[in-house]
Amino acid sequence: MNILGIETSCDETAIALVGCSGSLRRPQFKILKNLISSQIKVHQPFHGVVPNLAKREHIKNLPKILKKLKINNQELKRVVNYVAVTVGPGLEPALWTGINFAEELAKKLNKPLIGVNHMEGHVYSNWLDVKNKITFPAIALIVSGGHTILLKMESLTKWEKLGETLDDAAGEAFDKVARMLDLPYPGGPEISKLAEKGDPGKIKFPRPMLNKPNYQFSFSGLKTSVLYYLRDNPKTNKADVAASFQCAVVDVLVGKTMRAAKEYGAKSILLCGGVAANRALRNELKAKSSKLKAKFFAPAMDFNTDNAVMIAAAAYVNILIKKPKLKFEAQGDLTI
Ligand code: KG4
Ligand code: ZN
Repeated sequence: MNILGIETSCDETAIALVGCSGSLRRPQFKILKNLISSQIKVHQPFHGVVPNLAKREHIKNLPKILKKLKINNQELKRVVNYVAVTVGPGLEPALWTGINFAEELAKKLNKPLIGVNHMEGHVYSNWLDVKNKITFPAIALIVSGGHTILLKMESLTKWEKLGETLDDAAGEAFDKVARMLDLPYPGGPEISKLAEKGDPGKIKFPRPMLNKPNYQFSFSGLKTSVLYYLRDNPKTNKADVAASFQCAVVDVLVGKTMRAAKEYGAKSILLCGGVAANRALRNELKAKSSKLKAKFFAPAMDFNTDNAVMIAAAAYVNILIKKPKLKFEAQGDLTI
């Protein structure tokens, strides 16, 4: 079955055509086309994503990307079995552009349309590599620009949310601290680059909620500590600040994930979402997983940040389990 995935929840306009096969035990995905148009340059002067600019760019880029697939409507009609689109969570003006575009396209091609939860897309990005033999129970850490969520997974489709952030998401904290350090948006990749030149043990930033006996997260206090540190130490080495901040975030994320892995006897530990691109986080989680004799998985580098391949993959799983259809309207706060 071939699924055409469409993703516009934030600042990436993405369309992918994915060949999907296999059962829930072992779904398999073959990426036939994968196109992404990033809006980073448009939002950079504002140090963050401006929803109405995102909407304008998605409207402009969606037909352009569809053309770039180099498949005419006749051929699309022949090869596509389903059209899938992100309906939430995300920025509502941005989500609507994808939903409207997908509805029109599905009608034109006379194909069924599937609404997808963006966070499920991130989770399933760990199944894109056929070599990944993920076994259960698994603990999944989803770390993106808008969310930080810890899941206990009993199977591909059955999970329980153990905890999430009470305030800022991990990616959001990276982006805000980057701004304090005069680094461009998006801040995550910039901080991790700068951190390579710094000493992670130089500044003792707090590890919020690390020792609390729950699986909730909070990053806003850490962000404020960085702000005060920079105010009180204007001549500080920025690379040390970046490395020490990153180390604090990694300690909290890894500490809580490993505690959950131990408590629930996890056989696999999954990392996903934009912040999964962070090398320090990947390395630390991998090392700790191996100590626990659990297998560690993270998507290949191209599939951590937003893309449409993961949306097609999530749609396939939902088709297999005949999950009730999500409404075709932008659901900014949709939960997993
Ligand atoms: O999943 P994603 O593309 O979008 C959302 O669903 O939010 O995640 C984007 C987030 C941004 O906050 C970005 O700064 C962060 O992922 N990010 C990183 C890295 N690459 C992207 N954070 C830390 N280190 C990175 N290398
Ligand atoms: Zn995302």
